[in-house]
Amino acid sequence: MDKFLIRGGAPLRGTIEISGAKNSALPCLAATLLTAETVTLHNVPYVKDLITQRRLLEDLGATVLTPELRTHKVTAKNIETFEAPYELVKTMRASVLALGPLLARFGQAKVSLPGGCAIGTRPIDLHLKAFEQLGATVSLESGDVVARAPSGRLTGAEISFEKVTVTGTENVMMAAALAKGKTTILNAACEPEIEDLAELLNKMGARIKGAGTATIEIEGVENLSGAEHTIIPDRIETGTFIVAAAITKGELEIRNCAPQHLVAVIEKLRAVGVDIEELNPNSLLVKCCDKGLTAQSVTTEPHPLFPTDMQAQYMALMTQAEGVSTITETIFENRFMHASELIRMNAKIEFSGSTARVRGVTDLTGARVQASDLRASASLVLAALCASGETLIDRVYHIDRGYENIVKKLGAVGAKIERITESAAKSAADQ
Ligand code: UD1
Repeated sequence: MDKFLIRGGAPLRGTIEISGAKNSALPCLAATLLTAETVTLHNVPYVKDLITQRRLLEDLGATVLTPELRTHKVTAKNIETFEAPYELVKTMRASVLALGPLLARFGQAKVSLPGGCAIGTRPIDLHLKAFEQLGATVSLESGDVVARAPSGRLTGAEISFEKVTVTGTENVMMAAALAKGKTTILNAACEPEIEDLAELLNKMGARIKGAGTATIEIEGVENLSGAEHTIIPDRIETGTFIVAAAITKGELEIRNCAPQHLVAVIEKLRAVGVDIEELNPNSLLVKCCDKGLTAQSVTTEPHPLFPTDMQAQYMALMTQAEGVSTITETIFENRFMHASELIRMNAKIEFSGSTARVRGVTDLTGARVQASDLRASASLVLAALCASGETLIDRVYHIDRGYENIVKKLGAVGAKIERITESAAKSAADQ
């Protein structure tokens, strides 16, 4: 398994470009299954999860062309199977996003039930219940979810999610786009990625109103057509690089971002003492102010509040803030696995249920640590950037899932970071 070797202490300085949002590109690629015509997506990040999503589309029979690295032209004309196999679903939970489109267009879908994952059990019961409300029959057969629309087409319904679910909202929006009649989603997720997907679907001919609010109305149509769409910038990558600038006491200009998508994160980081200036609607200038950082508590909540996907990175930053902060995770159980690795780097963190108490400022020291999930990996990279000595982060395949070229991007602004590939490590060991 590949590793990162990071020598901490170098302040990051320069300009960094944000890639397209992984969590938007994933449902948008799934949405291409809703039409036989070609859908062109630009600004698709070149990360492992998107390669997996592309493989899933190709396995189903779609043609995916990439005239440029970040442009995908998908034609789902000759779909041969309606099944997403376990091999893909187990590596990427977002494969469940194929369920809604397949069920809506072909009246049937079979997707392996995603297993437990590092950040909790993560069920998809709410997706399945909603499909049933749209008229599908859903059964579990040998670990696969098998969904069928008995009359071939789903029927619009009122769906009230008992818990806010991002991919659940996306799956239902895609399914309802081709259903007969009107669907109303209540307690819908409001993430910018939902709005982005709705924008693509509307360009394809869907009739969706209210995306980005808690109530989404979808007037089903008979057919959807091809479209062209550019994926929004990744707000979590943006937040991660803001923290990178602050934690290394550097200065970064962050370009091609959408600050309006991470208002809660920017507000919290400003309260901590990070100097964040909006240079223009797509660029931020981030500096660590001379006074240093002050501990601030945070609770993760659905958008527009503080995102769970920034919790781990924020925890790394809090080790460098004066005082005690509490970090409460309300979205996922078991999402503090980065904390035990941070403690190995000398962080002072205690737990009580879903709350972590971080005491700063601590001089972090390099150590051998292990990444456990995507955002946990980012947290360890950030901690390593400000730690004294060398940190070796193992299992960085997690970070490859969602951060495009992170070694190159951080290296270009002064980080001492290198990737040690498994083959290089093996040949060094053999010598
Ligand atoms: C998405 C994001 C992920 C982010 C998360 C929360 C993608 C591809 N992934 O994940 O990066 O961390 O939103 O912002 O967009 N739940 C149920 N039953 C369900 C569905 C969800 O109980 O059927 C629960 C989950 O266990 C969790 C909560 O609802 O406690 C929110 O999960 P959800 O919003 O669905 O997360 P994802 O869509 O999987």
